[in-house]
Amino acid sequence: MVLEAKDIQNNWVQFIANIDAHITGDRKQKLIGFYEKYQERVMLMPAAHKKEYHNAFPGGYVEHVNRVVRCALKQYDLWAEEGADITTFTKEELVFSAINHDLGKMGDEENESYIPQTDKWRKEKLGEDYMFNTKVPFASVPDRGLFMLQSHGIQYTFNEMLAIQTHDGLYDEANKKYLFAYMPEQKPRTCLPFIIHQADLMAARIEFEREWLPKLRGEKDSLDGQKENFTLSNNKTQSSTKNKALGNIKSAGLKNMLDNL
Ligand SMILES: [Fe+2]
Repeated sequence: MVLEAKDIQNNWVQFIANIDAHITGDRKQKLIGFYEKYQERVMLMPAAHKKEYHNAFPGGYVEHVNRVVRCALKQYDLWAEEGADITTFTKEELVFSAINHDLGKMGDEENESYIPQTDKWRKEKLGEDYMFNTKVPFASVPDRGLFMLQSHGIQYTFNEMLAIQTHDGLYDEANKKYLFAYMPEQKPRTCLPFIIHQADLMAARIEFEREWLPKLRGEKDSLDGQKENFTLSNNKTQSSTKNKALGNIKSAGLKNMLDNL
């Protein structure tokens, strides 16, 4: 799947608007400043490195995060209507956790986690448009995300830490210590981790369905037709929108990556 430049631009605007609307205090500007510092990388990041995973295309990360925010807000209403104790966390904690749950996918200050695949065979046979950047030392996605927040002076609450840490639910064995507890006092004190996990699961499943169900039915990907228009060098029909969205991209590697899609 390929996003048009105007979609990448609109998704970025929505991403920043979510911070503006829901995050308060000192950390609002700090968070906006952090994301604007890394704007070029974050707005073009895929949400995964393999086509088989969800949103593994330029702009896929922000599209995914915005969907998780929307799903989390809807799940919040559902849990509230069904009687969950939503006084145990705030809506700001909910949105902060959703916005930053996958932040660790960006890599570290210097290096992106996902870079364009250089192995032709893996690209063609395994569908890997991206590969892991070996310059980035290993850390789990939640650990790296939390590290990036604290290393940029962005404070998070205990509830947010737990929600970001456990957002993969029991798909990540490391979360058993929080989610497999039988003793009441060892269970999470809020439903926030469950809401964030459900929102993430829902978003990833929807992204899988959009990408793969038409292909599995033998239909053409509805967005494939736009693929050849999505370049930085020869787009005639969308050039003004494209320039507005991507005109500030400095990285030659990213420009090449987009042009070669
Ligand atoms: Fe996610």
